[in-house]
Amino acid sequence: MLNDLGQADVAFSYAPGKIILVGEHAVVYGAKAIAMPIDCGVRVAVMPLPRNKVESRGPMVRGLGPFFMGDTYVDADSSGPQVLKSALLYILEVFGDAAKELAIVVDGSLPPGRGLGSSAALSVALIKGIYRYLSRPLEREVLEKHAMALETIFHGRPSGIDHAVVMGGRVIAFKKREEGADIWPIALKNSLTFVLAIAGPHDGTKNAVKELGMRKRRQEKVYERIFLGLNEIANEMEQALIEGQKASVGELMNIAQGYLNALALSTPEIEKLCAIARDRGALGAKLTGAGGGGAVIALADGNDLELFNAFKAAGYQSLIAKVPPVADMCGE
Ligand code: MEV
Repeated sequence: MLNDLGQADVAFSYAPGKIILVGEHAVVYGAKAIAMPIDCGVRVAVMPLPRNKVESRGPMVRGLGPFFMGDTYVDADSSGPQVLKSALLYILEVFGDAAKELAIVVDGSLPPGRGLGSSAALSVALIKGIYRYLSRPLEREVLEKHAMALETIFHGRPSGIDHAVVMGGRVIAFKKREEGADIWPIALKNSLTFVLAIAGPHDGTKNAVKELGMRKRRQEKVYERIFLGLNEIANEMEQALIEGQKASVGELMNIAQGYLNALALSTPEIEKLCAIARDRGALGAKLTGAGGGGAVIALADGNDLELFNAFKAAGYQSLIAKVPPVADMCGE
């Protein structure tokens, strides 16, 4: 519905979460990575802020559901995470006065802060929602630029893979370049089912990337070799996905997890969840995303319910994510 200024009174947008099959962290240093969208994500509704709040405080973000963070305004007195205030300042810079009148409600089914792409999904859904509310056309490159800027606020030094997979809504291979990245879709031969277990919150992607950078500086050559190894796994995995070699995909996930452990990104809990998954017949299991907590992904082989129940029985939140061969999971 349009109001008398030709704008929508409420605009909705959605972006999915993601899992990284191989290459997290190594991708920041130029290794190839493979990522997939998952069928839970972030929903945003953009609407007018009540008049009495516009002059002094707008815009406002209200987080609901798993995103519960109350109401956040840009002013210093407002509660709410500092990164979200910085994101609102960016939105003010981009949209000017029009942004002051926005109330942005965030909800969804994606657990935030668990390495499942919640900040990338939020960045993409926010920008899409605001453009839609203002009835402005949104070019892909413009969405990319703003999503990268918001991810930089949330992450510090993003490779760009998270918002690339979230924007594209399909399985992608991603390789960062000096400027930008090479990104191409991978057509799976078969659908895949992953069972996710949430190991708990991590210390934030920003910190994980920064601390890995410090460790790397102490052992430059060794880290470079590990990244080359992960790049090789990504090459093999791309082929295995295209050919429908599920067992190879799983085996490569297990090898990747070994490397991630060597990079000090795993935790005893993550190792325990990988062991539970492998004991119950998962084809492979590894952490996904920033590590140090977050989520584990297990590739199921017709035993997704058994894996789901095993994670639950061990006391962990679990989700099942199905990836169809030609995924287009943007939902719009
Ligand atoms: C986080 O989902 C993936 C990392 O590789 C960071 C990035 O690539 O921006 C840890």
